Amino acid sequence: MPEALCFDMYGTLCDVSSVADAIERELDVPGGLAADVDALWRTKQIEYAYHRGAMDRYEPFDVVTREALDYALDYYGLDAGATDTLIDAYDALDPYPEVLDALDALTADRDAVVFSNGTPAMLDRLAANTGIDARVDALVSADDVGALKPDPAVYEHVADELDRPLSACRLVSSNGWDVAGASATGMATAWVNRDNDPEERVGGDADVIVEDLAALADAL
Ligand code: LAC
Repeated sequence: MPEALCFDMYGTLCDVSSVADAIERELDVPGGLAADVDALWRTKQIEYAYHRGAMDRYEPFDVVTREALDYALDYYGLDAGATDTLIDAYDALDPYPEVLDALDALTADRDAVVFSNGTPAMLDRLAANTGIDARVDALVSADDVGALKPDPAVYEHVADELDRPLSACRLVSSNGWDVAGASATGMATAWVNRDNDPEERVGGDADVIVEDLAALADAL
């Protein structure tokens, strides 16, 4: 069975730090503070996904993303009035510079999907705005199963959607925790280690480690 590629969206295909420009503009704050707000927003988004999973209190990722932004703005004492505009900016994140060409190469003779915690509506908008939609076969959302990665049910869902065993599906993610979660279910993995981070210590080492998607296209 030929392997299918399952691309994480946020941080892997699209640069979540690109929303810092909108934070700087909308809140009229210095670039350094905008970057800090953006980083805390992302950290809390992931934390809240874990917490909600552990507490069995699922909310869709757009809700989790808004709650994380609320926290980050409150932490830095910033005006919550810009929340809707900043949430909209999440639909227009920049793809990393190599992503579109690398997707063309990686998907030429393979089945490939976006596979993300994002809701179907979030993924539709971002994939359309970036041109990613034309390069993959489908957008597979964790919301379909009412859970968020790294819940095993989410990885099992993408294998079901691709009509393959987990071992014939490869997660491609820049998030070490996502790689660990996929690996724990028996998925193949590729870690796009953009920031040269150390490996996570929760089990599930990556099968392939590359610095970006162009390198992955060469490696596979
Ligand atoms: C994604 C985020 C969590 O699933 O990176 O796209």
